[in-house]
Amino acid sequence: MATPLDAILSLSKRRGFVFQSSEIYGGLNGCWDYGPLGVELLRNVKEAWWKAMTLRDDIEGLDAAILMHPRTWEASGHLGQFTDPMIDNKVSKARHRADTLIEDYIEKLRKKGKTDQANAVEARLNLASEPAHFHAIIIDEQITDPVSGTTDWTDVRYFNLMFKTFVGPVEDVSNTVYLRPETAQGIFVNFKNVLDSTRQKPPFGIAQIGKAFRNEINTKNFLFRTREFEQMEMQFFIKPGSEKEWFEYWFEQRYQWFIEHGMNPSSLRSKPHEKMAHYANAATDIEFLFPFGWGEIEGIHSRTDFDLKNHQEFSGKKQEYVDTVTKDRYVPYVIETSVGASRSFMAFLCNAFKEEKIDGENGAVETRTVLQFHPKLAPVKAAIFPLTSKDGLPELADPLYKDLQKDYKVQWDTSGSIGKRYRRQDEIGTPFCITIDNDSLNDSAATIRNRDTMQQERIPIDNIKAFLRDSL
Ligand code: GAP
Repeated sequence: MATPLDAILSLSKRRGFVFQSSEIYGGLNGCWDYGPLGVELLRNVKEAWWKAMTLRDDIEGLDAAILMHPRTWEASGHLGQFTDPMIDNKVSKARHRADTLIEDYIEKLRKKGKTDQANAVEARLNLASEPAHFHAIIIDEQITDPVSGTTDWTDVRYFNLMFKTFVGPVEDVSNTVYLRPETAQGIFVNFKNVLDSTRQKPPFGIAQIGKAFRNEINTKNFLFRTREFEQMEMQFFIKPGSEKEWFEYWFEQRYQWFIEHGMNPSSLRSKPHEKMAHYANAATDIEFLFPFGWGEIEGIHSRTDFDLKNHQEFSGKKQEYVDTVTKDRYVPYVIETSVGASRSFMAFLCNAFKEEKIDGENGAVETRTVLQFHPKLAPVKAAIFPLTSKDGLPELADPLYKDLQKDYKVQWDTSGSIGKRYRRQDEIGTPFCITIDNDSLNDSAATIRNRDTMQQERIPIDNIKAFLRDSL
C-alpha cells in the first residue's frame, strides 16, 4: 500500500529534510532546498553511487562545468529536439503538456472501464511525433481543460526546455549560453581528455554527479519533477557490436544497487521504452512505486555513437579510439546509466517511510512513524541518551559521543522520556539509539536499541564504535 505523499511532505518539512525554495517570499515553483537532515541523506545517496561507480578499475570520475560552449547543445540535439509539445487553453490561459493531457485522459478512460477506447488513444499517442498529431487527438477526443472545463484550444507548439542566459555584459545572441539540461554532455566532450590522460581503453566509463536544469512546464509531486535537480550519470564507452551485452550488464548492476540500498523489491520494476529519446536505440527505465504511482527513477540507454559522432562533426575533432596493437579504430558506442540524485532521494524517502501500530508506554496502542533507511543512507547514524542529566551520566556518555562524532553524524539527546527520545530518532531514521543509564556507572556498558526490530542489547561502551562500524 502506498503511503500518502502529504504525510511524507509534512515530515520532511517538520524535521528539516526539505524546504520550499525561498519560502519566505512565497517559494519558487519547481525548486527545493535540502535542510540539515536532507543534505546528509542526499550526500549519502551520492556517496553510495559514487563508490559503486568509481571504486572499480574501469570507471573514472569527472566534474565538468555547468555552462558549456553553446555548440555542445547543437551537437547533442538539445537545441533542436529537447522540446515538449505544449497547448494553451484560450479560456483559462492554462498551458499544458499535450502528451500529459492525453495520458491523464487515457487514465480516466481506464478508471471508467473504457479499456478499448483507452488502448486506441494510447496507440495514437505512441505514434504521435508532430504537433498536429497531438492536437488531432485532443480535438477528436474532445479532451477538456482541467481548469476551465472547455475544449477551446490553441494549436500545439514545441517549447524548448533549456534555461538560457548570457556570458559577459552584453545580452545578445552571440553571448547566449544554456544551463545544462543533463550532465552527460560534459562527459562526452571530455571523452578524449580522459582517454588521453589515463590508461583506460574501451570498455571503460566516466561518472559524474552534478546539477542539471530544465524549464519543466509541469513541476509536480514534490522532488519528482523539478526545474533544478541533480543527476548521477555514467557513460560507458564500448566497442560497437558489444552494446547488447553491456546494456544488460549495466541494467542489472543498477537494479541491484537500489535493492542493496534497501529498496523494497516489490516497489521496483523495469520498463523498456517503446518510444526512444532522440539519441537512443534501446532504453529501459527503472521505476519506483511512488505514493502517486509508478515513476521513472533511472534510465539505462544504449546511445550508440550518436553523441561522439555529432561532437566529432560539430567540433571537427576526432573522437576515435585507436588500438595501438591491432590498429583498430572506431568511435565508441555508449551505454548510459542516468539517475536523478534528487528523484532517487525522494524514492528512498518514500521507501523508508512507515507508520506502525505499537504498544505505547502505558499499554495504549501508539502510532510509530519510522524512516527505515538502509544504515548507509541514514542521515544520523546513532543517538546518545544519558538517561538523566545527573549522577555523572552525561560525563560518562560525553567521551563516547565525542569519539563517535569523529567518524559519524551522531546526536545527543537528554530531554524527555526514553520513549519520546526513541520516537524522535525513529522519525528521522537513526538506526541505533545508545542509552547510558545508572548501571553503566558499574558495568561500563550501554543499551543499544535497534530502530527496526526495537530489540535492545547491552554492549560494553568500549566496543560501541566497533559495533557501529560493523553495522554500518
Ligand atoms: N542523460 C540522459 C537523461 O538525462 P532523462 O531520462 O531525461 O535522461 C535521467 O533523465 C534521470 O534524471 C531521470 O530518470 C530522473 O531520475 C532525473 N530527472 C530528469 N528530469 C528531472 C526533473 N525535472 N526533476 C528531477 N529529476 C529529473
